[in-house]
Amino acid sequence: MHVAIVLGTRPEIIKMSPIIRYCEELGLDYSLIHTGQHYSYEMDAAFFHDLELPKPGYKLNVGSGTHAEQTGKIMVGLERILIHDRPDVVLVQGDTNTVLGSALSAAKLNIDVGHVEAGLRSRDRTMPEEINRLLTDHIARYLFAPTELARSNLLQEGIDEEKIRVTGNTVVDAVLQNIEIAEQRSRIFRDLDLMPGGYFVLTAHRQENVDNREKLGNLIAAMRELHSIYGLPILFPAHPRTLKRLDEFGLSVPEGIRILEPQGYLEFLLLERSARAILTDSGGIQEEACILHVPCITLRENTERPETLETGGNILAGTDPGRILQAVSTVLSAEASWTNPFGDGRSGKKIVDILLGDR
Ligand code: UD1
Ligand code: UDP
Repeated sequence: MHVAIVLGTRPEIIKMSPIIRYCEELGLDYSLIHTGQHYSYEMDAAFFHDLELPKPGYKLNVGSGTHAEQTGKIMVGLERILIHDRPDVVLVQGDTNTVLGSALSAAKLNIDVGHVEAGLRSRDRTMPEEINRLLTDHIARYLFAPTELARSNLLQEGIDEEKIRVTGNTVVDAVLQNIEIAEQRSRIFRDLDLMPGGYFVLTAHRQENVDNREKLGNLIAAMRELHSIYGLPILFPAHPRTLKRLDEFGLSVPEGIRILEPQGYLEFLLLERSARAILTDSGGIQEEACILHVPCITLRENTERPETLETGGNILAGTDPGRILQAVSTVLSAEASWTNPFGDGRSGKKIVDILLGDR
């Protein structure tokens, strides 16, 4: 069996890494295709380095662009490779334009699509990611749902039960496989002169947040207040999209917020684990906060990861400063003793074994 693993952005590299490692371990016939949706060293190559991943066999170099430009380039580029290689399965992960473009190309060539992290729903169709997930799920042959809730979302939409398997989320594998390596290798606390528990972590990159001047301005105002109340630094490894918008909107970052380059995975895992709390609009970071038992405030009105809300360790706060501060106070007083809902850290193995068993 030949599996083509397609990835293109930071979270896909991280969450595909356990699958790639297992394919390597088995000596499986697989190919690695990088669309090039992310391309800056710290959003892309840094993760291949940190996670010791093999170089992709193909690179499409699609780069940035509008949704249609990016998705279209991915489709055209991948189609050529798929016609040439005819893999048995194309494996995609998550909800990016890389995922939808790749799934469409494969499905139109009657090549089976496997969707890792299937069945997540925010119920907000203004989000590009919701469109990408929905459409990919409906053309996939294998739906690897991380939780029972994700499975039930798929069943409600009429997707054939036989195509769905609950495997957990490979993010758990990634955290467990890398946290000890991080402890041994990373000097991040010394480099940034930090004390564990003595800082907040902030990330924001959602289109609906950072491309909107008012919302981004509100987030910055909320951080100013957070710093003045708790007196702790707020570490902000800024996504390139967000840096660009801060500059375009002429928004300056107040005292107390430390803008950093996007961090390597090992550094970021340690920063997450010892943060007083994490404030984020990221999907993967909500999950990692939950896995690491760190309080999380989600800077959105909805989440496709409601399992994290049920633990009491994550609260939706949108972008209003008053709500954000209230949420910080609530989540800091919650008991951090929840059970991780995303699986046992063997999802990558389960996914590959299902594919192998089915052929
Ligand atoms: C994309 C995904 C989003 C995911 C995020 C992970 C879509 C629709 N969005 O958002 O779901 O959460 O990746 O981080 O697929 N840029 C760089 N260097 C890079 C990549 C991007 O400078 O390596 C800048 C460019 O100015 C670009 C902007 O960031 O225009 C946005 O990049 P893009 O890939 O379109 O979307 P993300 O915001 O990264
Ligand atoms: N991440 C990282 N360095 C950073 C910020 C995030 O390694 O500076 C990792 C984080 O641990 C998580 C993933 O990137 O695994 C989340 O990616 P992102 O927030 O870009 O995308 P999303 O998960 O929202 O799609």
